[in-house]
Amino acid sequence: MTVLRARVLTPRSPDEVLWLDDAVIRINPGGSIEGVEPYAGQAVDLHLSTGVLTPGFVDSHVHYPQTRIVGAASGPLLQWLNHSTFPEEQRFADLEHAREVARVFVSALAAAGTTLAMAYGPVYPHATDALFAEVERRGLRVIGGPVLMDENCPPELQIPAGPALASLEKLADRWHGCDGRIFVAAIPRFALCCSASLMAGAARLARERGWWVSTHLSENLEEGRIARELFSAADYLQVYEDAGLVHRRSVLAHAIHLSDGEWDRIQAAGAVIAHCPDSNFFLGSGRFHASAAMARGVPIALGTDIAAGRSFRIPRAASSAYDSALARGTTLTPSQLFWWATRGGASALGHGNLGAVEPGFEGDLVWHDLPAWVDDPVGALAWILFDADAPRPRRVWVRGRVVWDRGQNTGYPWETPAS
Ligand code: GUN
Ligand code: ZN
Repeated sequence: MTVLRARVLTPRSPDEVLWLDDAVIRINPGGSIEGVEPYAGQAVDLHLSTGVLTPGFVDSHVHYPQTRIVGAASGPLLQWLNHSTFPEEQRFADLEHAREVARVFVSALAAAGTTLAMAYGPVYPHATDALFAEVERRGLRVIGGPVLMDENCPPELQIPAGPALASLEKLADRWHGCDGRIFVAAIPRFALCCSASLMAGAARLARERGWWVSTHLSENLEEGRIARELFSAADYLQVYEDAGLVHRRSVLAHAIHLSDGEWDRIQAAGAVIAHCPDSNFFLGSGRFHASAAMARGVPIALGTDIAAGRSFRIPRAASSAYDSALARGTTLTPSQLFWWATRGGASALGHGNLGAVEPGFEGDLVWHDLPAWVDDPVGALAWILFDADAPRPRRVWVRGRVVWDRGQNTGYPWETPAS
């Protein structure tokens, strides 16, 4: 049993957080939280009272092969993909390169306090294998897979449906369900790079094998126009519906330019939205219609969308989500943003046992510094979610195991040797 003493900030619902001024958190050897009680002189292993403990953050949409191109400012989506992204992703044909970037990527997630991520790999299955091996070793949680592409992109990045799906099955045989931390997803990248048969095959395989599916939906107006034309579809969502990709285990990234009818069908299908506001600003893609999703109860999780997003830190995405909604006339509350960043995001990704510092939840925790003047939940949420100058987390745990310790290093995570 590990016993921590700390202040605690944990979500109860989208409208309510719980703040404990001086709590004792007991984590059992299996890594789950067994008790959270007021401190009353109990023996404690670790005193963390200078800061505050929150649950780990959930990143519902992040691209591992884009770790090195954060800040590649080369215009809107299609130009950015062709100019900055596709050339970088081709480098992952080299396994050593993939391993090296996987190390930095996992460090960057952990240093940001992200304990569960839905991660897109490059097309090459060996590169996602390298990512899973690193996640396994370092103790984080991931749902991921190689992106699937067989059309309209550099030939080096096209893999036909047959071999792509066969190697995805092999990858899943090796990794899916590993230690309850690693899960495979089928990821047809987006309609522009995928044939109808690749998307349908991926959807079928995922349904048979119980995997998640994920793709990009209606991020950019030009993308939407091309998608409708290529597939002679009435709207963008229909392309994915026809392939069988829209259901309760689908994570649809961006979802910006949608009609009311498309929102109604997303709601009816029970699909999840990965909201990536910083990326939407950086690529000038548009502003997500948060109130359309929320009014329908569509599950939302936050995504950094590295490298179109500029930070691995989910609190930065939360802060951008606030700006983005306000610009459309909707004022989001800090508790709502905290919910999406933690418990709501985890539950949207099928992890109902993550995202709270409460008995029965997994011991996935983040220890944040707090300035001396912050002594209530309003101040703590303002600092953690909105203050861009707040330092990276001090320490991060998954299942009670330390996966990141900032130590004295307040700089870039890759400057600290991986544990
Ligand atoms: N659409 C297709 N691929 C990508 C990608 O890598 N990033 C973003 N933001 N959108 C995409
Ligand atoms: Zn993306």
